[in-house]
Amino acid sequence: MSTRPRRIGLLTGGGDCPGLNAVIRAVAKSALHRGGFEVLGIEDGFQGLIEDRMRPLGDEAVSNILTLGGTILGTNNRCDPRRHFATRGAEPCDVSSRVVENVRRRGIDALIVIGGDGTMSVAAHFQRLGLPCIGVPKTIDNDLPGTDVTFGFATAASIASEALDRIHTTAESHHRAMIVEVMGRNAGWIALHAGIASGADVILLPEIPFDIAKVCAAVEERSRRGKRFSILCVSEGASPVGGAQVVSRVDPTSVDPIRLGGVGQRVAEAIESRTGIETRTTVLGHVQRGGTPVPADRVLATQFGSAAIELVARGGSGRLVVLRGGLIGDIDLAGVENKQRLVTRDHPLVAVARDVGTSMGD
Ligand code: F6P
Repeated sequence: MSTRPRRIGLLTGGGDCPGLNAVIRAVAKSALHRGGFEVLGIEDGFQGLIEDRMRPLGDEAVSNILTLGGTILGTNNRCDPRRHFATRGAEPCDVSSRVVENVRRRGIDALIVIGGDGTMSVAAHFQRLGLPCIGVPKTIDNDLPGTDVTFGFATAASIASEALDRIHTTAESHHRAMIVEVMGRNAGWIALHAGIASGADVILLPEIPFDIAKVCAAVEERSRRGKRFSILCVSEGASPVGGAQVVSRVDPTSVDPIRLGGVGQRVAEAIESRTGIETRTTVLGHVQRGGTPVPADRVLATQFGSAAIELVARGGSGRLVVLRGGLIGDIDLAGVENKQRLVTRDHPLVAVARDVGTSMGD
């Protein structure tokens, strides 16, 4: 008597991130290698589950994608089936039952959901509705709790660091203060790592509100020591003491309505007007999310994809694959819902930055 293969639905949700294709490949290859599994790739995140858009992911489909940026499945960071907007401007409605129906009709036994905090909260919701879900933590922001690191972060930090290195030579030639604004939302991990890696003179994080007088004092103090340029790495979520974050756009129809951006330019204007030192800003933006993942992210993504299949094989569900102390493990998916892992003021890397004379703007 033959038993039918176990069918796995795989989706990528939220913003894209280097390493997504490496996870997709690892899930599909590991499923093939073990045998007894079929993988269906769901298109455009949860939108594809609402609209029943999916396709088989066999060997051919995942061949040659390990180093490819983006996601071959497409993604969507506006879609939450609990608050679905059928058309722009329409009232949101809950289409969770449509998703459950589509998953059951397709004979999907487990869903592997690759995403950040928003996507994991949707996955935890469907787990509660009876769909077995396994989460894989993705985000360049590195702000998912329970894991030492998310894949995509190493690549983003490396791109930000390369940008700072390049800015260094032009800052020095023109005797300017140069600001590089990096992504990360409410978490300063990218700014902290890239800033340390590239020897930024000032690092501003969302977690440590800055005092503009102290930022200017750091730049001026360098001038006094004969250093005629300064490099500032500013996280998009940084804000002054008692002030608000700078919002670049608001989309009320999105589940994720706020976008940050613009603080770099504000800091530049303040430095120029208070010190007279010519200042320029570079906003790195989506460059940090595009292109090929660095080898560390390819390895982590492959470990996560293989671990997700191992969990499904063991009959696990409602779990998030994580890396802890260098070892792959898994934790309760619901435990990370709507939670962020932020830089703490006493984080060892903050102490190291201060120890080498970096101003944290406070
Ligand atoms: O969460 C990843 C991220 O790149 C953030 O660092 C950034 O604030 C945001 O997404 C940008 O979102 P979007 O791609 O929708 O502009």
